[in-house]
Amino acid sequence: MDPRVSVITGGASGIGLATARLLRSQGPVIVADLDDSALSRAAEEGLEPFLMDVRKQEAWASLSDYISKTYGRLDGVVHSAGTAPIARLVDTTDEQFDLAYETNVRSILVGTRELWDLLTTSKGSVVNVASVAALVGQDRSAAYVASKGAVLALTRALAIELAPYGVRVNCVCPGTTMTPMLERHFESLPSGGEVREHLRRRHPLGRLLTPEDIAPTITHLLSPSASGATTGTNVVVDAGLTASFDYGNVFSGGVHDVS
Ligand SMILES: NC(=O)c1ccc[n+]([C@@H]2O[C@H](COP(=O)([O-])OP(=O)(O)OC[C@H]3O[C@@H](n4cnc5c(N)ncnc54)[C@H](O)[C@@H]3O)[C@@H](O)[C@H]2O)c1
Repeated sequence: MDPRVSVITGGASGIGLATARLLRSQGPVIVADLDDSALSRAAEEGLEPFLMDVRKQEAWASLSDYISKTYGRLDGVVHSAGTAPIARLVDTTDEQFDLAYETNVRSILVGTRELWDLLTTSKGSVVNVASVAALVGQDRSAAYVASKGAVLALTRALAIELAPYGVRVNCVCPGTTMTPMLERHFESLPSGGEVREHLRRRHPLGRLLTPEDIAPTITHLLSPSASGATTGTNVVVDAGLTASFDYGNVFSGGVHDVS
């Protein structure tokens, strides 16, 4: 079988990096990111760095050009680059909203458009990384929640439009995942350790997720042999977080606890 060529935005860190590591054995993996030093570390692992800002159309055009000339095919695209502004609504600026929308949503629309020829010729597969915030509300995160809800809706629209060409588009919604993004958030809070512990207990499986918990679901959705009939759908990987109301175990009398 020919090697499979993949692109992962945000591939130099967290969920994107864990996915890139899994895909490496199948063929070239281009990690597209704006963090230069993280890209250098990824290159040391045999991943192919591509410095770009996913908000820029010209960057997507360059990436498309590079892949066409170097490989002439594109089998998988993972949109994992993201930003998560956390602010009360009254403190949320227009700039924060635009940054979240351009990074988390518009990049997927522009990227899929610029990679259209490669994707349709190769009958490739696209996976968009949304969030449980696409499914339920989240405090002090209006811009983020709105952007991730849009990722879910955009996934369905792209899946329908690309289906006649044999291209599948799916979405993964991770729960609270211990990546550099989340570590930075906890470190920014006065009582980050307590918040982390509270969140852990809130997950029915009694633990937070790791990037390695999310990556296999992404590679499953990329694989035509594993999920060739799956498109326009959404897989939640959240340790049970969104499966229940926030009753904890009070409703049933509190007979067991996960500690
Ligand atoms: N960590 C979580 O709890 C969690 C939960 C649900 C969803 N997500 C989503 O998962 C995705 C990956 O997040 P992560 O937790 O792995 O974070 P991360 O910070 O570890 O990785 C994100 C990567 O995206 C890159 N990036 C950001 N803006 C970019 C831009 N404009 N152009 C190119 N690259 C850019 C960063 O440099 C970084 O390498 C994001 O879309 C995030 O919203 C994360």
